[in-house]
Amino acid sequence: MKAIIFITSAFLVLAGCQQSDDSENKVTNSTESHGMEADSSDPQDLAQFAIGPNGEYQTDGFDALKFLTTWNFNNLPKEERSKFYKETTLADGTLLREYWFNVEEVTIEVAPGVFYPAWSYNGQVPGPTIRATEGDMVKIHFKNNSSKPHTAHFHGYHSDSMDGTGGVPEDKIMLPGESRIYEFKAEPFGTHVYHCHSYPVSQHVAKGLYGAFIVDPKVDTRPKADKEFVMVMNGFDTDFDGENDFYAVNTKAFAYNYQPIKVKTGELVRLHLSNMLEFDPINSFHLHANFFDEYPTGTKLEPDNFTDTITMGQGERSILDVRFREPGMYMFHSHVAELAELGWTGMFMVE
Ligand code: CU
Ligand code: CU
Repeated sequence: MKAIIFITSAFLVLAGCQQSDDSENKVTNSTESHGMEADSSDPQDLAQFAIGPNGEYQTDGFDALKFLTTWNFNNLPKEERSKFYKETTLADGTLLREYWFNVEEVTIEVAPGVFYPAWSYNGQVPGPTIRATEGDMVKIHFKNNSSKPHTAHFHGYHSDSMDGTGGVPEDKIMLPGESRIYEFKAEPFGTHVYHCHSYPVSQHVAKGLYGAFIVDPKVDTRPKADKEFVMVMNGFDTDFDGENDFYAVNTKAFAYNYQPIKVKTGELVRLHLSNMLEFDPINSFHLHANFFDEYPTGTKLEPDNFTDTITMGQGERSILDVRFREPGMYMFHSHVAELAELGWTGMFMVE
């Protein structure tokens, strides 16, 4: 069941983001919400529009802002990082990228004060982003430290033996306590995903077992991106009735309303967007007041589309390139309005 109180709060957040400093927060007067100044939406100011009386995220260790630019554990100090990620140049010159992933059950915060018992790769949802260049070898050491059988199925080319499907043959499943290695060449280039494929797959994905897998082209003739962000669209069924109650990009409802994503005018902002939402067949991405080049699945070097809205089914992904023309606060959200109102809304703060 969807939370009606939460919907009301969501409108406050949406309206609140468009208030100027001196507007007295009259959210009912919609005509006041236009013509805002760029400096009126300091993240500190936005906090007052947070959801509910305790509308601040308590810490669960997951930083939605940092997740945007984290891949291959580049957020960790060197020594800590080496526990999860290693690069080795092989005799033939190929770069081998190795990862160490644990499947763990963790409690995550999906909206301020709303906690969800997730199944996760390495204690976070989405799981850690894997990023390689076309032709690299990728080797992931998995350990199932949870109480259920799981797998990891990667999108991309690989042999049948490296496909982490569930069901038969059963040797592809990691039972509780078991380990296994998946190894394959990173190809084709594009922005991909990985996810658990144990049955029922809808449950294993809905519980949080997925992440982004980016393969950069070996020869890249696209314009060089100044900033790159990983965005995984997802949702959470917090009352377990087979329907989502909260939606987001990168797990935390309204996270980028509270902490807008800072970019600069003119620079090339590249989004690696994927849709891992379960239960709802359609998701979408809409950017206000700007247009983007779309590279569907990221598998070609020329964009296929120039638009401000794209629609995605489950498992689909795209690369979106945008240059903001003017400073200001620009919303992005699902154009499925119900999803936007239940958390899948954020802001770019263009300076
Ligand atoms: Cu699973
Ligand atoms: Cu898939």
